[in-house]
Amino acid sequence: MLGRVLAQPSITERLLRQALQVPLPNFLHGVVVVGMGGSGMCGDLLATLADSTSPVPVVVHKDYGLPKWVGRTTLVVAVSYSGETEETLDAAREALRRDLPLAVMTRGGALAQLAMEHGVPLVQVQGPKMLPRAALPFMVTPLLQLGATLGLVPDPRGSTAALHLRSLAAQLGPSVPFESNPAKQLAGKLLHATAAIYGHGPMATVAQRWRAQLNENAKVFARDLCLPEMNHNDLVPWPVDKGAAGQHVVLLRHQHESERVKLRFVVTEELGWCHAAGITQVGPFEGDPLAALLGAIFYGDLVSVYLAGLRGVDPSPVEAIAALKGRLGGSPQ
Ligand code: F6R
Repeated sequence: MLGRVLAQPSITERLLRQALQVPLPNFLHGVVVVGMGGSGMCGDLLATLADSTSPVPVVVHKDYGLPKWVGRTTLVVAVSYSGETEETLDAAREALRRDLPLAVMTRGGALAQLAMEHGVPLVQVQGPKMLPRAALPFMVTPLLQLGATLGLVPDPRGSTAALHLRSLAAQLGPSVPFESNPAKQLAGKLLHATAAIYGHGPMATVAQRWRAQLNENAKVFARDLCLPEMNHNDLVPWPVDKGAAGQHVVLLRHQHESERVKLRFVVTEELGWCHAAGITQVGPFEGDPLAALLGAIFYGDLVSVYLAGLRGVDPSPVEAIAALKGRLGGSPQ
């Protein structure tokens, strides 16, 4: 898993240079990305970037079926690395049943089969076979290129993401010793406390990836929450619940927070987070929006793998997910 994480800068650099050739509808009132887990996260990243640039809504659907409002001018993009995820396959089949515009992104499996049988535009995920969550750079880049073709987000080829990832790798990689490596230091703190990860705007999306990677790689519980919403609920127990002392607060910051949001971070720390086991601020992540997102994801992926090492667990297998898929009758990954 560490090798896969460390490959993110070079994969991102290579894929960002490539162009995407997929026939797509040119009249759209919206896009629904369907996907679960690591694949669904790619949809979350597209939707997050599209928030500030897209003239039409980009929505992520993480369930069976499709919402009723999805109509003939909404493109459904079904994303599944394995191509075997039950919920995603069900949504794609529903799109076909309802005769909705559909595109598919997968490495193979039943989803690729369905696309070929029905003449659905297919984006074939490149690279050797790996765990879906490790394949994020192989999926997110073509998905963003698809988004750019539709005018939802800027062309990702203009991003400085690869450069940013290389510089983070030099600061946080395994050869950088604990004393000067903030990712290793944070993993050390999370050995004794549950991570409570907070972010605003794009960093709220990244907080979800951090939580999922801590769950799947380090095999620990973690919480992800966003500002300002947490100011209206999650803030309340911090000064009064003993559980506060068992949590380490991770604040994912970005360069474009407004003054009001910055103030909320300050006041929330004074009223609530000061009761935690500790607080670590990560960032602010800088650069263009894609560079900031991918940089923050890379950072969290490293923390999760370092924590797995400290806990003495293998980051790769996700036995409970495989067992669940097996029990439900799908193919375990
Ligand atoms: C496993 C992982 C999971 C999968 C999810 C959906 O590494 O990250 O969260 O991504 O179970 O499977 P796919 O991505 O194959 O549709």
